[in-house]
Amino acid sequence: MQTKPQNISGDIVLSVRHLVKNFNLGSRWFSGKSGGVVSAVADVSFDIPRGKTMGLVGESGCGKSTTARCILRLIEPTSGSVTFSTDGRAENIVDVTTASSEALRRLRQSMQIVFQDPFASLNPRMTVGDTIEEMLLVNTDMDRTSRTTRVVELLDLVGLESMHAKRFPHEFSGGQRQRIGVARALALNPSFIVCDEPVSALDVSIQAQVLNLLAELQENFSLTYLFITHDLAVVRQVCDDVAVMYLGKIVEQSPVEKLFAEPMHPYTQALVSAAPIPNPAKQRERTRILLEGDVPSPINPPDGCRFQSRCPIGKAEVKCRSVEPRLIDVDGVHQVACHFPEVRSVL
Ligand SMILES: Nc1ncnc2c1ncn2[C@@H]1O[C@H](COP(=O)(O)OP(=O)(O)OP(=O)(O)O)[C@@H](O)[C@H]1O
Ligand SMILES: [Mg+2]
Repeated sequence: MQTKPQNISGDIVLSVRHLVKNFNLGSRWFSGKSGGVVSAVADVSFDIPRGKTMGLVGESGCGKSTTARCILRLIEPTSGSVTFSTDGRAENIVDVTTASSEALRRLRQSMQIVFQDPFASLNPRMTVGDTIEEMLLVNTDMDRTSRTTRVVELLDLVGLESMHAKRFPHEFSGGQRQRIGVARALALNPSFIVCDEPVSALDVSIQAQVLNLLAELQENFSLTYLFITHDLAVVRQVCDDVAVMYLGKIVEQSPVEKLFAEPMHPYTQALVSAAPIPNPAKQRERTRILLEGDVPSPINPPDGCRFQSRCPIGKAEVKCRSVEPRLIDVDGVHQVACHFPEVRSVL
């Protein structure tokens, strides 16, 4: 039985527990020494209730996509568990991490992904209709007529027309291509979709259209989303809850408005202070917290807090350099992993 954490209300569709992914780098041919271990995801846990959107934010390389790929078992996690329930009901929970290849094939119908770069994720030699139909051909026993009808229906759902089925990816704009990516993800009636930076490659005006489409589809089909982005403005627009990642770990997690209003981790405070707000007067008054240095390498990360080298507090504290902070519950909905957490308004 899955235990429901006290801070989550509603049925849990996705539950991630202590997820770890290490990449072993091969030995160096010239020295014979081991290349080390990339600690890409280090003990990540969270739940997503049915019909909600969980945001996963953080700088490039912090482990967002690796987390997503482990959840969908596109790559094998090193350890930890991922459980999934199509409708959030306890009796339908399946352990994704131990599922057989046949069970995984069935699961993939319910768990889908939309990628950042729609052009790279579409086959340039296939028409859009064939690309979408391929999903139906491989995963269902629908006959040709039903598949064609379904392709038209899917194109309509994402705001495209039936004549678009005969065209090739290069004939579409970026926003339209992302709509095709969404149509393909929807083809098998999934209940959960990972959106991995789905609008990062698009112009701001087009971003809004795709985000609106995703919100509309979520409403109509009770979809549950894991929404990966490095853009906090997008998080604020689409997410219910948000987890902030730094170097493979979740450093803070909270309902989205609370995270913006009362960030507690110095890293979150820096991110929020850098996110633009739609009030020019307020925007001018704000002080941006600038982080020094670069994100350290995830190869053999330091002891203690992973944020210590860039933290305004941690550099001076022995505890931060020796003891790894655990994600601690603050008030039932807000968790932070910091030895010296402090609410600081930066909006
Ligand atoms: N196959 C791999 N082999 C070795 N290291 C890898 C592999 N895939 C990812 N990594 C490393 O794991 C870390 C996390 O990568 P990941 O792609 O998950 O980051 P991300 O948060 O999605 O970044 P971005 O915002 O740039 O997409 C990075 O340091 C990356 O270099
Ligand atoms: Mg990524």
